[in-house]
Amino acid sequence: MKIALYIILIIAIVAGVCSLVHLRKVSNRNKAEMAKYSNKVELTANLGKTLVVYYSLTGHTKDIAMQIQSLINADLYEIKPKEEIKQGPALYLTSKKQISSGNYPEIVNDFPNIEEYDTIFVGSPIWWYTAAPVVLEFLKGFDFQNKKVVPFSTQGSNYGTYFEDIKAKAKNANILKGESFNNMDSKYNEQVKNKIITWLNSL
Ligand SMILES: Cc1cc2nc3c(=O)[nH]c(=O)nc-3n(C[C@H](O)[C@H](O)[C@H](O)COP(=O)(O)O)c2cc1C
Repeated sequence: MKIALYIILIIAIVAGVCSLVHLRKVSNRNKAEMAKYSNKVELTANLGKTLVVYYSLTGHTKDIAMQIQSLINADLYEIKPKEEIKQGPALYLTSKKQISSGNYPEIVNDFPNIEEYDTIFVGSPIWWYTAAPVVLEFLKGFDFQNKKVVPFSTQGSNYGTYFEDIKAKAKNANILKGESFNNMDSKYNEQVKNKIITWLNSL
């Protein structure tokens, strides 16, 4: 009994130390990346009539979506699941199953008319190294013939195969260069804005 407790304690300590080391590495990487975006950038992008589609559970993707929307005066559309998605450990299991099976949750069918737009941004939080299942469900319903689609993501640190996956799932889209945004401390707000503008200017 005592030995089992010691083993559990050692595992917990090792896991804690590994996670601290990982967090430190990510924080150093974020700092180095943000240093590249210290200078103010002027917006020169012209993307035609633009729609920003996003899903966000905890607000990070919504924040980036709203910044893009306000910078280029785009329309905004939030993907809404029919059944509320709740945060918590169970979400990791259900979302993993949905991603592996391709059995995505239903979404509210109040879709925008994508025919009106030249460019469509698609933003998702990264779940299990890919898009949240509701975003994959959204993509299933459209043909993006003659549309430019620009993917973006927010994540802790690893976006996995998100950009390849969006490219594969957005039928017939002309995919433009995407961008990923690690969750950042608010002290980097200006740098994140500069990163968004730099990316928009490059499209
Ligand atoms: C089920 C689940 C899986 C996740 N998987 C990843 C992952 O594979 N890589 C990563 O860097 N972050 C991962 N995250 C963290 C989210 O991508 C990150 O917090 C994101 O910015 C949340 O966006 P939101 O606030 O718009 O919902 C995961 C979060 C959840 C809830």
